Amino acid sequence: MNFSSDTAAPAHPKVIEHLVQANAGPAASYGDDGWTLQAEALLSDLFEAPLRAGFVASGTASNALALGLLCPPTGGVICHEHAHIYCDERGAVEFFGHGAKLLPLTGEHGRISPEALQEILQKVDERFVHATPPKALSLSNLNEAGCVYTPKQVAELANMAHDRGLGVHMDGARLVNALAFTGASPAASSWASGVDILSFGLTKTGAMGGETVLLFGANADRFDELEARRKRAGHMPPKQRFVAAQIIALLEDRLWLELATHANEIAAALADGLQNMDIPILHPIEGNEVFAKLTPDQTAKLQEGGAAFHVWPDGSARFVTCWNTGPDEISKALALL
Ligand SMILES: Cc1ncc(COP(=O)(O)O)c(C=O)c1O
Repeated sequence: MNFSSDTAAPAHPKVIEHLVQANAGPAASYGDDGWTLQAEALLSDLFEAPLRAGFVASGTASNALALGLLCPPTGGVICHEHAHIYCDERGAVEFFGHGAKLLPLTGEHGRISPEALQEILQKVDERFVHATPPKALSLSNLNEAGCVYTPKQVAELANMAHDRGLGVHMDGARLVNALAFTGASPAASSWASGVDILSFGLTKTGAMGGETVLLFGANADRFDELEARRKRAGHMPPKQRFVAAQIIALLEDRLWLELATHANEIAAALADGLQNMDIPILHPIEGNEVFAKLTPDQTAKLQEGGAAFHVWPDGSARFVTCWNTGPDEISKALALL
């Protein structure tokens, strides 16, 4: 009963198979290898667009490098007040952005509301030197409440940002779960809705460590700058083939979709079971995360019974499911309650 995080999950066996194949002999280093080329081509197919990809080992690095490209040191990044970049990355965006400031907004269920975005954008006065002007918007999809932005919602916010000259970033550490929920295409959910740079995560899906910064459209011309930043930040793996091989494993035959669909379905089963016991669920179930309001007694029963989950800052219990969460884990947890 490990619901602590999808990062607690093991790597999928297909990922390990691809790593073993990639281990057959010498290969060019620093991304000049065949696996990197193949992974970039597969990403381009998946997103139905020309793109450039920079492979990194963590979502934090991916977000910080992406936003370093989109926001100058004297600018700000608009994000949700519960965004991972704001709450859980120890200032990485500010550090990689050489002082760029995060500008948090509120919004129900982890989604930035168009009204809140409108309000902050209306106040921007570039001539007023004392205030930090926003230069980028960052949206997490899935977001930190486990909810999606549909392509329409992304487009609405992205259009508002673009109209004011801001770049648009998406933290897609769990984008595959959002895609499995909405059924929308990766293209419609990203560049076609106005996302300029995407942090595309596959670690939580089933990789050991496979995250990618994807540059769409004109941003692809900034690939050399991304490479320089990756190198300087220490995020250019010398044996990059092993990161690329994991990406290939998850993209081939759409394994990512199969795994994300399973994680989502089993989260929905957990939520159903909790609701049947009248346990309040705090956010709509749109991915692989369930936030439940447990009593102290229920929390203790689960913990003593061996279930792993995090108690969130708002007091709720966060359950995260993953590619190998079994129905037995759900029934055991429900039985304990
Ligand atoms: C929304 C979101 N973005 C990014 C990340 C990536 O973080 P890490 O640096 O641990 O890979 C996480 C991890 O939990 C996350 O939940």
